[in-house]
Amino acid sequence: MEILFPTTLTYATDLVREKLIEPFGRPVNKTKRKVTVVGCGQVGMAVVMSILAQNISNEVCIIDANEKLVNGESKDVQQGSLYLRDAVIIGNTDYKASEDSAVCIITAGERQKKGQTRLDLLKTNVKIITQIVPPLVKYSPETILIIVSNPCDILAHVAWKTSQLPLERVFASGTHLDTARFRYFIAKRLGVSASSVQGYVIGEHGDSSVPVWSAVSVGGIRFRDLSKCAGAEGDTDQWHEVHNQVVKAAYEVIAGKGYTNWAIGLTVASLVSMILDNKNEVATVSTLAREREGIENDVFLSLPVVIGANGVTSFIKLQLSGLEQELLCKSAETLNKAMQSLKEKK
Ligand code: 2OP
Repeated sequence: MEILFPTTLTYATDLVREKLIEPFGRPVNKTKRKVTVVGCGQVGMAVVMSILAQNISNEVCIIDANEKLVNGESKDVQQGSLYLRDAVIIGNTDYKASEDSAVCIITAGERQKKGQTRLDLLKTNVKIITQIVPPLVKYSPETILIIVSNPCDILAHVAWKTSQLPLERVFASGTHLDTARFRYFIAKRLGVSASSVQGYVIGEHGDSSVPVWSAVSVGGIRFRDLSKCAGAEGDTDQWHEVHNQVVKAAYEVIAGKGYTNWAIGLTVASLVSMILDNKNEVATVSTLAREREGIENDVFLSLPVVIGANGVTSFIKLQLSGLEQELLCKSAETLNKAMQSLKEKK
């Protein structure tokens, strides 16, 4: 015999809930792992696929001003969601779709063309950043902003000021990619895996970046314990060539295919994973460096920090050599000059 529950039971459940539970505070995010990527060009879509294919998030919102492109790209990825653990992918031109994003990644803007430096993109891309940041923060006031568009150090500085968000929640991918390249080229030369190489590149994500040879180690063995001048003047092993490869890497890829996207996409996805999984991993990302490591300029540049659920959770205090310190200050000066040029252009 089928027992028919009277509809009042539903009502009674509501009465019980009302007497039992007092709601408190802001409704929690609809999803703790939603990620928004602004810009569905080559880099943006590499970030999207790197996040989805590695199951870093299963809810991705793609925002782009080009309605046809963002609809096409989002539909294309959605149709593969069976193989992405039924991830939810939405594409829109309206920032409301980004609401309640745990992380918002900005990849929109002009990209380096053959022979262009990243700093050459500043004038065009700074306008785009100042238009994108306010609606992202309006719909996701708790979000963490990761700036990828170049020149990412300066654009992150502008994004932080525009957003009014706490400093720990706005940073650029910075030299997290240069560090990946640095570790890869060292590993390739030694015949070990890149994950077995510890080391950083700091400073500008660009031509004035600084390799921290004093901190390079493989399997726990410091290079400088094996060769006092590894990577520096008088190094007969020519290790400094590795940093030249890092600086040239993007130019070479751009000369081949017109842009870079896969390495930066994977690099950014690793930062998103550190945030969503509260990994507290060390990464070289671009944040306000004033009064750190002897830098006096009011600039964003990459230093080793710990990345967790709330963004930059702490700084790693470096033991730089005199030369590394000098090169870092030069990198800061390069960025400061570019930042000043913005003020002169106003
Ligand atoms: C890269 O280094 C272009 O900044 C981009 O691949």
